[in-house]
Amino acid sequence: MHVKTASTDYPVLNTIRDRWSPRAFANRPVAREDLLSILEAARWAPSCYNDQPWFFILAEKSAQELYEKMFNCLLPGNQKWATSAPVLMLSVARTSFAQSGKPNQHALHDVGQAVAQLSIQAVSVGIFVHQMAGFNKDKARTAFSIPDEFDPVAAIALGYPGDPIHLPEDLKTMESAPRQRRTLSEFVFNGTFGTTTDILP
Ligand SMILES: Cc1cc2nc3c(=O)[nH]c(=O)nc-3n(C[C@H](O)[C@H](O)[C@H](O)COP(=O)(O)O)c2cc1C
Repeated sequence: MHVKTASTDYPVLNTIRDRWSPRAFANRPVAREDLLSILEAARWAPSCYNDQPWFFILAEKSAQELYEKMFNCLLPGNQKWATSAPVLMLSVARTSFAQSGKPNQHALHDVGQAVAQLSIQAVSVGIFVHQMAGFNKDKARTAFSIPDEFDPVAAIALGYPGDPIHLPEDLKTMESAPRQRRTLSEFVFNGTFGTTTDILP
């Protein structure tokens, strides 16, 4: 299995360290019980007022027509690789609180958090998630009859990592490139925004 372990400055959970976003997936369906556990992890994410504004439209490759409908919503750059994913999903946010009907300014935050939980749970059973902003929102809204008060957020490919040999050349290079992140000193502040925190050595 292709691994891209994060080179962390401080210890983190193995599942956080090992998660990455592959573009090559194995030609193997995702076990139903694993898929359900992954979605259950999203279910238990915290959310503003416990509104749980996340929704997922699911398309397994075995359901060919549905899968194609989802695949056709992806932008061409993502279609180049996502075709190998055994499962495609679309995350959707309810943009107003269910109780009050008032706008939920944190709906996107909460959907992202649910997807983060789902991604980490997935790694624990050897499944990897690749989120995509590159999809056509209007097309998705029409294809899946998403009402106006809900917003398509991100497309998601998931499956077991595959052999990058089958990827186009440019993507093959990206697949093996090391994962990079800003350092804590660049985004953890004390007092004034921009002033690095003094908890760092
Ligand atoms: C909301 C979101 C949108 C993304 N959109 C795309 C996309 O359209 N296409 C793509 O190839 N990767 C996409 N990515 C994947 C990121 O490029 C990737 O997470 C980032 O480079 C860090 O790599 P890692 O996840 O392997 O650590 C997206 C990730 C997120 C969270």
